[in-house]
Amino acid sequence: MNATTPAELTDDVLKSFGGTPDPRQRELITALVRHLHAFACETRLTPQEWMAGLRFLTATGQKCDDRRQEFVLLSDVLGLSSLVDVINAAPDATESTVLGPFYVAGAPIRAMGEQIGRPEDGSPTLVRGRVTDVAGRPLDGATVDVWQSNDSGLYDTQDPGQPPYNLRGVFVTGPDGRFEFRTARPASYPIPTDGPVGDLLRATERSRWRAAHIHAIVSAPGYRAVTTHIFDADNPYLDSDAVFGVRDSLVRPFRPAGSDDPADVSYVVDMDFALAS
Ligand SMILES: [Fe+2]
Repeated sequence: MNATTPAELTDDVLKSFGGTPDPRQRELITALVRHLHAFACETRLTPQEWMAGLRFLTATGQKCDDRRQEFVLLSDVLGLSSLVDVINAAPDATESTVLGPFYVAGAPIRAMGEQIGRPEDGSPTLVRGRVTDVAGRPLDGATVDVWQSNDSGLYDTQDPGQPPYNLRGVFVTGPDGRFEFRTARPASYPIPTDGPVGDLLRATERSRWRAAHIHAIVSAPGYRAVTTHIFDADNPYLDSDAVFGVRDSLVRPFRPAGSDDPADVSYVVDMDFALAS
């Protein structure tokens, strides 16, 4: 007998996936069906609303290319990206936060201390620290892959005035686990609103601003890589970040450089990263 009630229909769909050979895949798809059906029942979803949802997802996909990832942005503004980070956090390791839509693989490996931007990108800033395990032992050969906006809040991929890989670089630690690089102090920026995610933010009267940050993916052989940020402690958007990415443990002062600091920088940021095995 075929289903006549919502509950019977949901049950039929769940049964149809019951033979999925991979247990984890079976768990994920059946949970997705249960929650999706519950959403439709709870809201009494209309055919027009269902179609509007499909049009929204279609537009989201059509906005994606190899430099723009609208689905990542959608996941970010829904808080899903941050939720996945929080669920999967490794105890005692540096907290992770959103990857965001502006990561580009293949940034150049740079010499320790090198400047990753240009003088016109903003106030010269020295970022330095150590990569360690969770017990504080330095990690040799760890990779710190960093990227950020300039002081206008623009990434190289958004700004034809910046050369490719501007404000991006990869640093590899030695036996002491130390890294340092010169950069510009980043600015807050609005997330891209020229696509369907922007339409969603306008319709819901949500803030589009991200707290100023430097991105990093820190990895080392045999350890769990962490995708994270360094947030500027002076930033006004720390409590209203559009993608729910701020973790208190990732906020650092951009300290004005003193007489003991290198003469070519205006600010110094100290940030250590700890990786779990
Ligand atoms: Fe960013």
